Amino acid sequence: MDFSTVASHLLNNFSVDEIKAYNSIKTFDYIHLASMGHNDTEGYQIFTPEFIVKDMCAAIGDDIFDFSKNVLEPTSGDGAFTVYILLRRLEKALKGGNFELDSLRALSTIYSIEMDKELIKKQRNNILTAVSLFIKDHKIEVSEGYFEVFKCIIVKNFIWAMFNSDGPIDAGLFGTEVAYEMPKAEKNVFNPLDMPVWDISDNAIIVHEEGVEIW
Ligand SMILES: C[S@@+](CC[C@H](N)C(=O)[O-])C[C@H]1O[C@@H](n2cnc3c(N)ncnc32)[C@H](O)[C@@H]1O
Repeated sequence: MDFSTVASHLLNNFSVDEIKAYNSIKTFDYIHLASMGHNDTEGYQIFTPEFIVKDMCAAIGDDIFDFSKNVLEPTSGDGAFTVYILLRRLEKALKGGNFELDSLRALSTIYSIEMDKELIKKQRNNILTAVSLFIKDHKIEVSEGYFEVFKCIIVKNFIWAMFNSDGPIDAGLFGTEVAYEMPKAEKNVFNPLDMPVWDISDNAIIVHEEGVEIW
């Protein structure tokens, strides 16, 4: 697949804010998680350390690493859970023999919501850093344009939004009242979010927005 063409097609349909988010994503030298002692400027908040993330994911079971299953982190901070889940999914993608498409699929069903703009920006960088280091460490060759497509998925799925922690959630269905667009929600204007749904086949990558079933 020509990933550069796919990325330009996706970017052509992005909003101005999405393009801005896309252009701001960069790699760090290493993953910067507050729970690892990096940049913990929050002080009063607890960011989950990796050993607890591992235990919690293990308690859910291996389904969480199955990239055909949707996972939502509704208050995701700088990505303690999303980075771990992505890295475990990348290991799986590596074993499958079709790393490029499977790693994009692995990312495309991880959804992340965070209301603090600086933290969601940091998390997007952590996610790009995680895949970049994984690719480097495993000496994987990726095609031109691969990282551009990866970044497009980050922009869509790692969302600056406010999770509706007050409202009831419709028995496992990701309905219309689960999260609200920022910055409007900060000003008490609650516009419900639809979520991006990716269709990644051998010859096309497309995205549309709808309610998503979260297992
Ligand atoms: C204690 S931190 C934990 C972050 C991450 N889940 C972890 O375990 O490291 C909680 C995060 O949830 C965010 N948050 C709190 N209420 C939220 C809401 N209603 N919608 C989205 N994010 C929220 C905060 O900004 C903060 O980054």
